[in-house]
Amino acid sequence: MLMAKLPELVIRKTRITVPIIQGGMGIGLSSYTLAGAVAAEGGMGVLSSAALDRIVSERHGRKMKHREAAAQDVMDAKNLSNGGAIGMNIMVAVINTYEDSVLGSMDGGVDAIISGAGLPMALPEIVKLHPRADEVALIPIVSSGRAAEIIFKRWSRSGRLPDALVVEGPLAGGHIAWREKEQAADPVNKLENLLKEVIEVCKKWNLNIPVIAAGGVYTHEDILHYIDLGCGGVQMGTRFLATNESGANSEYKQLLVECQETDIELADKPGSPCGMLFRVLKQSPFYQDALNFARTPKCDKGYLLNKGACSAKDENDKAFCICNGLLASIKLAPNEKNLYTVGQTAYRINKILSVKDLMDELRNAI
Ligand SMILES: Cc1cc2nc3c(=O)[nH]c(=O)nc-3n(C[C@H](O)[C@H](O)[C@H](O)COP(=O)(O)O)c2cc1C
Repeated sequence: MLMAKLPELVIRKTRITVPIIQGGMGIGLSSYTLAGAVAAEGGMGVLSSAALDRIVSERHGRKMKHREAAAQDVMDAKNLSNGGAIGMNIMVAVINTYEDSVLGSMDGGVDAIISGAGLPMALPEIVKLHPRADEVALIPIVSSGRAAEIIFKRWSRSGRLPDALVVEGPLAGGHIAWREKEQAADPVNKLENLLKEVIEVCKKWNLNIPVIAAGGVYTHEDILHYIDLGCGGVQMGTRFLATNESGANSEYKQLLVECQETDIELADKPGSPCGMLFRVLKQSPFYQDALNFARTPKCDKGYLLNKGACSAKDENDKAFCICNGLLASIKLAPNEKNLYTVGQTAYRINKILSVKDLMDELRNAI
């Protein structure tokens, strides 16, 4: 069995002693307790900006606007982090709160902004509006060399290039970059191949930044494998979802322990209103209703509305409302059923661990 000490990961001004970024998991799953615990163990803990106005207002018992809530969430995680690194995951698709998420996280002292679910074209311009612009690492999530190149071209006009790139392959949890299942299953799109493409593009641009592998990373040996391929570290979601500290409720964690490989599906028809494939546990009650067209379309949250348009707002044949299903899973949509997203490795989970035990296992300190 391959074993070695993992190298540290440096992104812009932030030193991460264990080269593991805990992936942002919305809504409310990568909670401040999870991110704080991961950072305290030497990894980078990452919050998710999705619906933070609701989540943080509820936690603190007073109404906060989105920018203030993002700042508060960062401060709450920092308080648990023992000086470790905290990032904020901000989805481009959650368009209405994008700018407030960026600026609020910076108000709160965030170390890095990690942004995907679309190409974060405007990110450097928004960051420039804040006095901490120089302190914060900017990390786009991409799933091809072409996406990396488009971002480099656009960002170079703002005078700021990414400080690292997360490359997310088809096994990841949440949304993945592809629209068709055949594309996600095509060996061309295996994570190793995507990493090669992206590393080549970085070389072409003479950009010596860490490339981070995400999607299906499960063990210490997996981490070594990606470091051998030239990565600076990994981003992991599903394993951190299955910890005591994550925001997932007890039914969700129970299903993580019990689920089989055949229980994990890529929702497409109907799918996510974001248009990308969305990986779910087929037992999710909200997803079962979506498959049977049993939920009357209703949009009372509106996080994904862009100029009034969300494909799940008035119809349920092509897309289902993910905002309500995901909020129900953290008890913030009382009359809705739960929707569970996971990565493809979820069937390998057989125990809910503490973050400390998981980090010890991953860095091979046990
Ligand atoms: C439950 C869950 C929710 C996720 N939510 C988000 C999200 O809101 N935004 C995002 O960019 N990525 C999201 N992801 C992707 C993770 O940040 C990470 O890149 C991915 O899970 C890595 O793959 P793994 O689960 O196989 O480790 C989510 C993943 C999971 C498992």
